[in-house]
Amino acid sequence: MPDIQIRQSRSDDMAFIERLYPDAFPDEDLLPLVRQLLTQEPGVLSFVASADGILAGNIIFTTCAVTDCDGTASMLAPLAVASAWQRQGVGTALIREGLAHLKSAGVNQVYVLGDPAYYGRSGFKPETGVAPPYSLPEEYRDAWQSLGLGPTPPPTHGKLLLPQVWMQPALWGP
Ligand SMILES: CC(C)(COP(=O)(O)OP(=O)(O)OC[C@H]1O[C@@H](n2cnc3c(N)ncnc32)[C@H](O)[C@@H]1OP(=O)(O)O)[C@@H](O)C(=O)NCCC(=O)NCCS
Repeated sequence: MPDIQIRQSRSDDMAFIERLYPDAFPDEDLLPLVRQLLTQEPGVLSFVASADGILAGNIIFTTCAVTDCDGTASMLAPLAVASAWQRQGVGTALIREGLAHLKSAGVNQVYVLGDPAYYGRSGFKPETGVAPPYSLPEEYRDAWQSLGLGPTPPPTHGKLLLPQVWMQPALWGP
């Protein structure tokens, strides 16, 4: 296992992030979203990971809310690990550090749209009460997940309310 260190990202990490996303997601252009999140959205929390001293991954959380619910929520996305460092614990470490930070900031609930085989390892469970901003195709149902950080009980119904940058159907479909 490499030596993995996590810290909040800074503006001078942008050159790494610009290389990271095309490498981790060769079939998807997430850079416009990532640039906007990191430079224009106030409620965004971003971490980078280094592995053996080399920048290796990034995770972003966006503050959001659930309709008719007072608690603070966050959405985890995107998460990317450089291809050379995948499957060596970097993604898991980024999730763990991000969740610890959100918990200490009083965030109640974290949502993610992603592979349940992967996020389930960090405690996420399929979310059936709170709906994503756009309805998902049947095959994505288990991919919509959440994790409660406590202490208040998770919302049982409602819809996730996200900043405008996330309101693009292409980000929520196959
Ligand atoms: C998916 C991704 C973020 C995982 O991060 P990572 O640092 O490679 O993963 P970790 O080392 O933390 O965990 C790997 C473990 O999760 C398991 N796993 C389950 N589903 C997985 C998946 N879809 N991708 C990678 N690992 C997965 C692996 O089998 C591995 O377990 P093992 O070591 O017991 O075999 C990373 O591989 C990545 O950026 N991939 C390309 C971009 C992507 O698909 N991002 C989407 C996130 S929804």
